Amino acid sequence: MSHALPPKPLTARACGPLQGRVRPPGDKSISHRAFLLGLLSAGETRISGLLEGEDVLNTGRACAQLGARVERVGDGQWTVRGVGLGALLAPAETLDFGNAGTGSRLMMGVVGGHGITARFDGDASLRKRPMRRILDPLVLMGAEVLEQGEGGRCPILLKGTPDPAPIEYRTPVASAQIKSAVLLAGLNALGRTTVIETEASRDHTEKMLAYFGATLTSEPFGEHGRKIALEGRPELTPKPIAVPADPSSAAFLIAAALLVEGSDVVVEGVMTNPLRNGFVATLKEMGADIEVLETREEGGEQVADLRVRHSALTGVAVPADRAPAMIDEYIILAVVAAFAKGVTHMNGLQELRVKESDRLAATAAGLRANGVAVVIEGDDLIVEGGAGACPGGGLVETHLDHRLAMSFLVMGLAAQKPVSVDDETMIATSFPTFKPLLAQLGADCFS
Ligand code: S3P
Repeated sequence: MSHALPPKPLTARACGPLQGRVRPPGDKSISHRAFLLGLLSAGETRISGLLEGEDVLNTGRACAQLGARVERVGDGQWTVRGVGLGALLAPAETLDFGNAGTGSRLMMGVVGGHGITARFDGDASLRKRPMRRILDPLVLMGAEVLEQGEGGRCPILLKGTPDPAPIEYRTPVASAQIKSAVLLAGLNALGRTTVIETEASRDHTEKMLAYFGATLTSEPFGEHGRKIALEGRPELTPKPIAVPADPSSAAFLIAAALLVEGSDVVVEGVMTNPLRNGFVATLKEMGADIEVLETREEGGEQVADLRVRHSALTGVAVPADRAPAMIDEYIILAVVAAFAKGVTHMNGLQELRVKESDRLAATAAGLRANGVAVVIEGDDLIVEGGAGACPGGGLVETHLDHRLAMSFLVMGLAAQKPVSVDDETMIATSFPTFKPLLAQLGADCFS
């Protein structure tokens, strides 16, 4: 599946101060969910600000394969004419999710709770990612895994059930993807589906389900957890969705502004959902000059314009329980830490091993290639910063991982020597406007 493009290396070199205002693209998590809920509700869902990255577009295509009419009506503007809960069509062809863990896993939940069979596949990165964590609860609900790759990986042939059993499920790891798959399957169950997570993960699925009219409760569970209960077979009513800017993409712009001397940038409309804001919280602890200029609500989420100025940073210890709120930001945090004074100790990063790449190993390798002292101790990443200076000069292997590519290119904007990545093509999966937006701020330093 997914015919890979030939790798395209890219080099970033030191640039002058970043200045101006910029709005990152729409949130990836919310964009996937907008397509999926559009599919599951009968009638027309209008989406604005959708992230038009490859991952999300693959989800849109999969929704069309299951019977929805998915149309682009303008820049970031899409309509989805859904077939409604219980009325999905069996796809004739394989659902190819490319690089997208979120798209594939959430769609497994949808298929698992419907009487249809679908084949799931994707690129070499997706084929390495664990899927048993999704399939296990779906099997408890009555779905069947007819075929699977080694260790329960893609390609997977999943036979859903038209009558999923409402279950109570405790997620084995803090994962919004597992939680969401169970809830999406539970939509078509007669009765109440409950998910318990001991560490709260991003809550976009719950919020959007409630917005579309589902009956759902979410209450605290233990010190950091949540218990979510969803009543099955709701009447889902399409609603307009305005997608706020992605804090995980904003992270690269924020980091670039902090690291490049003389920078002063406003990053607009960044979603500040507390389950996504661990990166900014950590940067502030490191001494980052980040000012919240204006907060407001967009698309049911709190957003803010953030003014970010170049800052001298100090290393900190990042507690393990913060990981769910910044799980996609550790690579860029490690890059920032390479410029800080002293040591940054990131605790409890085991989930990084099963992302688009083994991010723990790949981040450490990328840092070492650029002259940064780093160790992995168990599941922790420990980076010794250069007090404002980072040697650079390395070539970083990106293993089909968009965030590795973007993080190390940001390093190159501020390091002493240029930094190269072996492949920039994957950036298009989540942040196709990465280079143009940086160029808009004055960092046109890629070749
Ligand atoms: C996502 C959840 C996270 C995150 C991913 C997007 C989501 O994965 O890493 O990029 O949209 O639900 P896990 O839930 O597996 O931690």
